[in-house]
Amino acid sequence: MKASVLITGSTGMLGQAAVSLLGNRGLGLSHEALDIADADAVSQAFTRFQPQVVFNCAASTNVDLCQTDHTYADSGNVTGPANLAMAARASGALMVHVSTDFVFDGEKGAPYTEHDEPRPLNYYGASKLEGERRVLSACPAALVVRTSWSYGPGGVNFPGRVIHWATEGRRLRAAQDQIGSPTYTPFLARGILQLLEAGAVGVVHLAGAGQASRFEVAEATLQSAGRKGEVERAHAIDFPARAPRPRNTALDCSLAASLGVSLPPWREGINAYVGTRQDKPSDPAVSAPHQTPTSTP
Ligand SMILES: NC(=O)c1ccc[n+]([C@@H]2O[C@H](COP(=O)([O-])OP(=O)(O)OC[C@H]3O[C@@H](n4cnc5c(N)ncnc54)[C@H](OP(=O)(O)O)[C@@H]3O)[C@@H](O)[C@H]2O)c1
Repeated sequence: MKASVLITGSTGMLGQAAVSLLGNRGLGLSHEALDIADADAVSQAFTRFQPQVVFNCAASTNVDLCQTDHTYADSGNVTGPANLAMAARASGALMVHVSTDFVFDGEKGAPYTEHDEPRPLNYYGASKLEGERRVLSACPAALVVRTSWSYGPGGVNFPGRVIHWATEGRRLRAAQDQIGSPTYTPFLARGILQLLEAGAVGVVHLAGAGQASRFEVAEATLQSAGRKGEVERAHAIDFPARAPRPRNTALDCSLAASLGVSLPPWREGINAYVGTRQDKPSDPAVSAPHQTPTSTP
């Protein structure tokens, strides 16, 4: 069976968005169906499905676990992407790989461009950076899209937790000094495919337009959901985590814009996400990989 786009990590947030966007042009493989760290399995998948494009949505995304378990981090973020890139190059398929704003240390004080020097603060960011390098070295025509603070249906994420906690009537606190570019995964999946169609190669930043603090995201989410409740202003230091987080990793997406691709303003993503959750306000909230906690019981 041939697949025009093979989507790895298909049950993750971005993977689900890609699967639903591509319909019968895509073939999604979950972690269980294809472990990208297994080189033989990757090679067999390419032989079997002969994809024209591989869209890598798989990654080891638990930032705190990456800090202590480097085997976990490297399997999804370094070895896996390298395996896919080598198979893509050998078969002539295009490769799209997804990376992160956490390759930066967050100290620039302005949105990061593709020309800024990465300097990861934690092992997750370091492993993702190494993954980018391995992908581009095995497959120089690959597209590597760095995004920021993603959330969407079918995953545990910061806006989803805010809604959940508000539903439970819990006290909400969010850091006003932690800043990123919140990105809705269905918008991201669409933008990535547009970049591919535009022939983009190399590293390109793509995220929800603008920038926001965790506090602003929490407030916008509550407002959009029509929920009562107040968010208290807090600081990143109030939420200690195993892996240090960068302070400000908003992304400058003007390169993507110059190729005709930009995502809607971040608040539109929040509104769209809240709209998908109207009928399930009490999704279980478990640990969110990319976010520091924002609520105290
Ligand atoms: N979420 C964010 O805030 C954020 C921010 C910036 C960049 N990104 C990047 O965006 C991309 C998509 O992430 P996401 O937000 O969709 O995360 P996600 O919801 O955690 O999805 C990641 C998926 O990858 C799968 N996976 C992990 N290791 C794998 C392996 N060795 N082989 C195959 N599949 C594997 C996971 O499966 P299991 O759960 O079954 O292990 C999961 O389905 C990643 O590259 C991530 O680094 C995310």
